[in-house]
Amino acid sequence: MSSDHLVIFDTTLRDGEQSPGASMTRDEKVRIARQLEKMRVDVIEAGFAAASNGDFESVRAVAEAVKDSVVCSLARANENDIRRAGEAIRPARAGRIHTFIATSPIHMEKKLRMSPEQVLEQAVKAIGWAREFTDNVEFSAEDAGRSEVDYLCRIFEQVIKAGATTINVPDTVGYNMPDQFASLIRTLIERVPNSDQVVWSVHCHNDLGLAVANSLAAVNAGARQVECTVNGLGERAGNASMEEVVMAVRTRKDFFPVSTRIETSQIVPASKLVSQITGYPVQPNKAVVGANAFAHESGIHQDGVLKHRETYEIMRAEDVGWSTNRLTLGKLSGRNALRSRLQELGIVIESEEQLNAAFARFKSLADKKQEIFDEDLQALMSDDTAPPREHYKLVSLRVSSETGEVPSAGITLTVDGSERSGEAPGSGPVDATFKAIEAIVGSQAQLLLYSVNAITGGTDAQGEVTVRLSKGDRIVNGQGADTDIIVASAKAYVNAVNRLFSGVERVDPQDGTV
Ligand code: KIV
Ligand code: ZN
Repeated sequence: MSSDHLVIFDTTLRDGEQSPGASMTRDEKVRIARQLEKMRVDVIEAGFAAASNGDFESVRAVAEAVKDSVVCSLARANENDIRRAGEAIRPARAGRIHTFIATSPIHMEKKLRMSPEQVLEQAVKAIGWAREFTDNVEFSAEDAGRSEVDYLCRIFEQVIKAGATTINVPDTVGYNMPDQFASLIRTLIERVPNSDQVVWSVHCHNDLGLAVANSLAAVNAGARQVECTVNGLGERAGNASMEEVVMAVRTRKDFFPVSTRIETSQIVPASKLVSQITGYPVQPNKAVVGANAFAHESGIHQDGVLKHRETYEIMRAEDVGWSTNRLTLGKLSGRNALRSRLQELGIVIESEEQLNAAFARFKSLADKKQEIFDEDLQALMSDDTAPPREHYKLVSLRVSSETGEVPSAGITLTVDGSERSGEAPGSGPVDATFKAIEAIVGSQAQLLLYSVNAITGGTDAQGEVTVRLSKGDRIVNGQGADTDIIVASAKAYVNAVNRLFSGVERVDPQDGTV
C-alpha cells in the first residue's frame, strides 16, 4: 500500500455497537457490512467474536458475505478470545485479528491488576497466538492516550518483533488535545526502532468533542489508518465520525498528504442505514450527513449559492450521496422491480418467501402512500430484521382520541402464536398504546427514549419511531415504521420488547479480564 493511502478502518459494528441500545442482529450487521463494502471501506471490524455465540456468528456471517474489505474481529489478549476471533474470520477472503491490552498505569494497576512486565509478556504472547491464524494482526494499547511514552515504545517494539502488522494508538477516554496527540504519534514513529515495518493507526473517542480533530492531527503526524464509525457512533460520546474524517481529507487535499479509496457517494446511504438499524437519529446540524448540512437558510447565503455554489459550499451534496428523494416505485410496480431496486440498495433477498413477504408489505404501503422512495423501501425492509425469536407480534390496534376525552387504546398481539388483547387509558394516544401493550406483556421496562422521524417529506410520509427500553442492566432499541405514527409507535414498542426478551448474554470487551 502506498505511503499516502489512508486506511479507513470502520468499527461501527464493534465499537459502534457498544452504544447503549445499539446492539444489532446478525442480519443487520451483514446489511451494514455490505454497505460498508460498497463504500470501499478498507477494514470492517465486524465484532468481538468471544463476546457471545451471537457475536461469533455475526463476525462469521460478515466474513462470509464481504469480499472486497478486510474483515476483522476484536480479541482481548488471551488465548481463548484470539482463537474465537481466528475461527470467526476464517471464511473471510482477507481477515484480521485485532488484539488489545491496556497500557496506562491506571488501567494496568486498577483494572488488570498486572505489572507492566506482565502486560508486555501477555501482549507478545497474544501476537503469537494471532499469527497462527493470520499474518494480518493489529495490536492496540488500550488507553495509550494516558500511557507513558517510554513504556509504549517498549511494548510496541516487542509486539512488532512478534509479528504485529498494524499498531493502533487509542485515545480510549477522549482525553488528548490535537497537538499533544499528534506529538505522541510523531514520537512513537521516531523512537520505535522497527516502526517502519507497520502501519500506524489511531482510534479516538469523542468525550471532549475532539475525536475527529485528534485523528486528523495524527494523520499529519504519520498515522496511516484511522479507526472510525458511521455517524460517530460508539462507546459513550462515540468515536471519530467516518464521514467527517473522509471528507476532511478529500476536501483539504492541500493540507493532508493522503487519500482514501472511499466511494463518497455511499456516505449518506450508509448513514441512513446505520441510523435506521440502531435507532440513533442523526442530528440535523451534523457535519456531512445531517439533514441541514447543505441547507442554506439565510437569504444572503441562498443568493450567494445561486450565483456561485462555492460562495458558501466547500463540498457538493451529491458527492456524499445526498440526492433529492428518489421516486423509485409505485402502486403498479411488480415483484421484479421491487427485487432489483432492493438489490441496488444493497438489500439481498435470499428466498422467494422473503420476496413475497416484502412484496405484500410494499403493496400495502403503496395503497396508503402514492409515491414510494428509497427511504421507504429501507424502512419497509427493516420490518424484516426482527430479533431472532419474535415472541410478540402486532395484530391490530384501535385508538380513540378526542378533545376533552381521555384517550384510550385497545390492542391485540399474538403471543407465541396465540392471540391476546389488552386495553388501557393514557395521557395521549401513544401513552395509551404503550400501556395497552404492557397490559399484555408486563415487561415493566422503563421507557428511556421515544422519537419520531418522518422518513420522507409530505403528510403521507411514513413515520419512523424509535423506542428505547431498559430493564435491569439491559438497554434495547426497537423500531417501527408506518404511515400512521401510532401504529409505528406500537410496532417499535413491540420490537423493543421482543429484543428485551431475546436475552442475548455478552461479555463486555472492556471488562478488564485477559
Ligand atoms: O477505545 C478503545 O481503546 C478500544 C480498543 C479496544 C481499541 O475500543
Ligand atoms: Zn474504542
